[in-house]
Amino acid sequence: MSDHSAGHENAPSLRFVTDAPVASIETGLIRAHAFAALASLMIAALLGTIVAVKLVQPEFLGGHVQTTWGSMRANHTQGIFFGWFGNAFLAFFYFAVPRLGGRAVMSRRLGWILFGLWNVGVVLLGWVLVSLNPANYFLAIKPLEWTEFPLIVNAVTEICLVLMALQFIPPLARQPNRDGMYVSSWYILGGLIFTLLAFPVGSLVPEWAPGAVGAAFSGLWIHDAVGLYITPLALAMAFYIFPVRTGRPIYSHFLSMLGFWLLFFSYPLNGTHHYVYSSIPMDTQRAAIAASVIMGFDVMLVVFNLLMSLRGQATLVARDVPLRFVWTGVVIYLIVSLQGSLQALMPMQRYLHFSDWVIGHSHLAMLGFGAFIVLGGIAHVWQRSPHFHYHHGYMNWAYWLILSGLAIMFIDLTAAGLMQGKLWISDAPWMDSVRASKNFWLIRAFAAAPILVGFAAFIAGLLINADNRSANNPRLSNSAMQPVPAHG
Ligand code: HEM
Repeated sequence: MSDHSAGHENAPSLRFVTDAPVASIETGLIRAHAFAALASLMIAALLGTIVAVKLVQPEFLGGHVQTTWGSMRANHTQGIFFGWFGNAFLAFFYFAVPRLGGRAVMSRRLGWILFGLWNVGVVLLGWVLVSLNPANYFLAIKPLEWTEFPLIVNAVTEICLVLMALQFIPPLARQPNRDGMYVSSWYILGGLIFTLLAFPVGSLVPEWAPGAVGAAFSGLWIHDAVGLYITPLALAMAFYIFPVRTGRPIYSHFLSMLGFWLLFFSYPLNGTHHYVYSSIPMDTQRAAIAASVIMGFDVMLVVFNLLMSLRGQATLVARDVPLRFVWTGVVIYLIVSLQGSLQALMPMQRYLHFSDWVIGHSHLAMLGFGAFIVLGGIAHVWQRSPHFHYHHGYMNWAYWLILSGLAIMFIDLTAAGLMQGKLWISDAPWMDSVRASKNFWLIRAFAAAPILVGFAAFIAGLLINADNRSANNPRLSNSAMQPVPAHG
């Protein structure tokens, strides 16, 4: 199952894996975006915790416009999407793109403009406007999932997406270096280009085309945001980190490419599976269900390729925290995607739609798959960047705390969803299901504690200087205090 492409089986000589000189790296921008990402993650997770507490104790924090459940939920999800994932991907691009493309990003000045616009014009402005919710069409919260930030913020977001394309696409696409175009580069290019096109469609079209047509476009964006922004960029990290940390190539270039193209062909059709049994034409719903099943096969193929690249490396995965974070994200990618293919089927939808099962699924996807890979990616970047602090012990604690919080949250919400589905198809009054959900919601609120402490431990791991990079770096493990390599 292998061919002769660089970075894959039989050709383990990718330059970003080996000791070749690296084009200039913007360490200031890496650091700034990574800290902005982690600060956003903490704030967004705290907002999620407040939202979770409010489900159990609705009077918590009063009923001011800033603290209503709806606006805080929107700030939780948009903060995760733009503040956390957006900044974390940018940090990774500044580290990886010069290595993958063999040339520096387009402009440092552009980088700082993008940093300011993204964090002030998108994340902060979005949070403030959603909290205040002014009565103005362009400044008010939008009732659209995954794009609740007001239209004015959406305009700044689109400008930023264009700037990102200008910053990162030319170094990757212009005369790829002698390694050719590695699969991570494909995923970065695909993610950037598709998001640039899909975001205005999902944010604007439903505003002008209300009803079932608007819902179809909204559904398209809900799934494209996960599938064509977070998924390809997280996979770009996984495909980058596995060969670098193991020193071994990816199993098969053919499977890498097949997985890439299947993702980009089948994912856009998935969106309408959010509206099964709605007034959207039945054929569109069936096409979405078929695409969701095809996606399950694609994910099996991608995960098979990634895990086969780690065969014989179990000890290393257990010992090496950044690699373990990414490995966990990859395994959860398989679990959550198979769950997704299954729950898109009509008999499952009849039972589970609108229940907490779906919220469990979302957290398994965004936290278990997306965030685990991204946390591993940031840990990797930190450990491999000279003069950055990295503390193995804190990182290890962060891993176990976040994983245990996620496990509790996921099992709890899945059980809640099954219970709700059962009550909803019975003759029981609606309020019975609300009363029966209360204890599940309480457990979910408590599950926030290990997750928040885990995030704090991760941040501490990036700040506290333990000088133990070599102990955790398999490539340096025999030498007490060697310098951190500039490559990979
Ligand atoms: C401290 C931990 C967290 C808690 C307590 C929490 C809680 C919540 C709550 C209560 C909701 C609204 C559920 C509803 O509508 O009934 C929600 C939605 C959501 N959260 Fe979190 N959250 C946390 C962390 C995260 C993280 C780290 C991510 C992503 C990396 C995330 C991603 C999401 C997503 C995507 C949704 C929307 C779910 C959907 O509509 O299907 N959350 N969260």
